[in-house]
Amino acid sequence: MRGIQLQLLTPLCSAIGTTPLEPKGVVYTKRWVVDLLLDLAGYLPENNLVDAIAVEPSAGAGAFLGPMIERLIASCQKLGRPLSDCRDSLIAFELDPASAERAKELAIGALTDRGLDRPSAEAMAAHWVRNEDYLFEATDIEADFVIGNPPYVRLEEIPESTAATYRNAYPAMTGRADLYVAFFEAALHQLKKDGVCAFICADRWMRNQYGAGLRKLIASGYGVETVIEMHQADAFHDEVDAYPAITVIRRRIQGPAIVASAGPEVEEAPSRAVSGALRATARGECPPLLPGLRTATVNSWFKGTNPWPCHSPEQLVLLRELEDRFPALEACAKVGIGVATGNDSVFVTKDTGIVEPSRLLKLALAKDISSGKMEWSGHYLVDPWNGEGLVDLERYPKLRAYFGKNAAVLKKRHTATKNARGWYKTIDRVSHALTAAPKLYIADIKAALDPVLDTGETYPHHNLYFIQSEDSRTFPERRISDSIE
Ligand SMILES: C[S@@+](CC[C@H](N)C(=O)[O-])C[C@H]1O[C@@H](n2cnc3c(N)ncnc32)[C@H](O)[C@@H]1O
Repeated sequence: MRGIQLQLLTPLCSAIGTTPLEPKGVVYTKRWVVDLLLDLAGYLPENNLVDAIAVEPSAGAGAFLGPMIERLIASCQKLGRPLSDCRDSLIAFELDPASAERAKELAIGALTDRGLDRPSAEAMAAHWVRNEDYLFEATDIEADFVIGNPPYVRLEEIPESTAATYRNAYPAMTGRADLYVAFFEAALHQLKKDGVCAFICADRWMRNQYGAGLRKLIASGYGVETVIEMHQADAFHDEVDAYPAITVIRRRIQGPAIVASAGPEVEEAPSRAVSGALRATARGECPPLLPGLRTATVNSWFKGTNPWPCHSPEQLVLLRELEDRFPALEACAKVGIGVATGNDSVFVTKDTGIVEPSRLLKLALAKDISSGKMEWSGHYLVDPWNGEGLVDLERYPKLRAYFGKNAAVLKKRHTATKNARGWYKTIDRVSHALTAAPKLYIADIKAALDPVLDTGETYPHHNLYFIQSEDSRTFPERRISDSIE
């Protein structure tokens, strides 16, 4: 399996043939992000890092490896132990030989700078840095920390046979999953109890279909500690179109989670100040204000394959509050769509004189809610229904005359051809109890959901959805108006 991706990693040449481009999937992480991730993971010199095992799954030139070595050595010195004790504390994988060599040189430099002789440093670095495929060579290692920035490689960029091999080994990689999904899966599997995976990575998997398997895996036995949306932050040395996020996930049951968003200004703050603010949020304290950083805590996390809408900490907190206060919509409310007639020019009217008053039903159209409030435009449905079914036209002479006048067009409708005796029916049956019920209307095709309250005045036309419930937990009067305002 070693080198399965090597064909992806051959440096390409630019059009003018001077500057080699980085191998595919390669994005180097900036120091401030590395420090923040290490802080959040608890990879801190004040902890005993010597007896822990830390894995960098895709080391590149060593953006994480360098600071990890610094912290490891500081921890070792604090404990008063020899550097040789750190031999088994760190393992870094890197598939690209040239990058692996750079990472190794960096490790040798860090060790010799701290007084280790060159041969010992070389031996230690060779033990730490492995020019191997993480996805196949790391599975036996039990880790306390897996920290890094996995490669972003779309599976369609990988030869089908190679992609199939990865898919077989990593079942969370479904659909058009990116390779980083396998890195998450491998990292999570290799964590010891209480071990932590801290990655900066593209965040599409949190919401899309191909991330469903990974979300399910996380929900099945891990706790999400921190998610930081970094779309606007300057996290990498090159400009990347990747919508990154930091995720810190621990092998233990889910507790409260911190959700944050970091703007470009956060780069200016010391990483300890940022992680301190996040920890203060976790303790329920008001965090110190840091420009560009927004934080919130939620008490529970998403279950199963449910998407993680983590874009805005504030919105997520509101969503959680609503979930806590109210039952799920499908549990106690009816969601439906208004009446389709098959011929609105006959069935929808403003003329109150054309049929008996009892055959006119106040109809709410989509335009009636466009202002954000229910403003009935004066339209009625010419209503052929009563509680039992279609009305007997003999009992309503004006209705009979009106439908009779329009019989030719009404009978041409598909719904009428299927039911010759009911030729004057609307496509949908009218359920009269709905008119008097308080309900929310939502217009059919709109960019944003904008519910509008009908206090029990009208019946919805077919391009309005309605939400209606008898359950006072769903529809207490005061709460409706609160949330609508
Ligand atoms: C996004 S870069 C991150 C590099 C470095 N960790 C950083 O943050 O700057 C991903 C690295 O993963 C390496 N890589 C790709 N597939 C790999 C695999 N299967 N095993 C180990 N490394 C791999 C790439 O060569 C690349 O250097």
